[in-house]
Parts: sequence; structure tokens; C-alpha cells
Amino acid sequence: MTTTSSAEHTRRDFLFVATGAVAAVGAAAAVWPLISQMNPDASTIAAGAPIEVDLAPIAEGQDIKVFWRGKPIYIMNRTKKQVEEARAVPVSSLPDPQTDQARVKEGHDQWLVVIGICTHLGCIPIAHEGAYDGFFCPCHGSVYDTSGRIRQGPAPLNLPIPPYAFVSDTKIKIG
Ligand code: FES
Repeated sequence: MTTTSSAEHTRRDFLFVATGAVAAVGAAAAVWPLISQMNPDASTIAAGAPIEVDLAPIAEGQDIKVFWRGKPIYIMNRTKKQVEEARAVPVSSLPDPQTDQARVKEGHDQWLVVIGICTHLGCIPIAHEGAYDGFFCPCHGSVYDTSGRIRQGPAPLNLPIPPYAFVSDTKIKIG
């Protein structure tokens, strides 16, 4: 059986307290990066974090382009006329048949949100250009309508819709 001297006790207590103090400092140091991580930095956003977009500044008939996962996303506040035109076309006449209703969120029919990458060879189409007042791809002349559906040119498919949801009447979350 061994006994521990009071000197050893003191030394061991000191080591224990010192180690505890280092652990506490380490824990405090670890908290800051965690807190700062709550706001995703640019590289995190580029890697795929969801982004929120305020729609309030986009006037009727205008659009904005934002980036999500490095891809251009067009958000268009369509006029009543643009929505009506998109819905008047017989779906069966379209190269990639899809109703306008299937491409927007119910109750937010004026908002079109599409990935701005041409489905032909990947150029970025220009908004509010082309015969259908939608998008025009200058690379090889593909023309998309106000629903982002392919109407003319070599592109085989409609502009894709990214995953998104309305978090309020004037804000969407993409991703
Ligand atoms: S890449 Fe758009 S038409 Fe070819």
C-alpha cells in the first residue's frame, strides 16, 4: 500500500487545475469559430449553402441575376401580360412541353426563377431578349419564353428551375 505525501497532493492538484484552465481557454477559443461559422462565408456559399433573396426591390417587368452554387439564377418579376402569354401557348406545341404553372410557385405566379444556363451548350442567355420577351442565348440563337421554356433554336430543354421556396411574400430561399 502506498501513501501520497501532501507535497505530491499539492503538485497533482496544481497540475489538475492548470490542465483545467487550459481546457477552459481552449473551449472559449473553440466557441468563436463556431459562432462565426453561423454566417456562411463566400466559399461556403459557393459550395452550396442556401441563399435568401429579397424580392422587394425588383419592380414589375424587371429581373435580377444572383449566384447560387456558382450558377447564375434569374429572378424575374413578370408582368400580367407576360404571364398571360406564357399560359396562352398550347403546351403540346412546345419542344419541351411544360405548363407555366408547373414552373412557378402557386400564389406567386408572377415570379419566375430559373437557372440561367442555356441547355444547348451552357452559355448564359440574356434576359428580356428574343421574340418571346424571355431569354435569348447569343451563342447559337436559342430563344426562351417568359416561362424560360425553349421555343426556338438548338437548345433541347427548358431552362431548369432551381430548388427554392418562398419564406415570405417578398423573400425566397434558394437551395
Ligand atoms: S449554348 Fe445557347 S444556343 Fe448554344
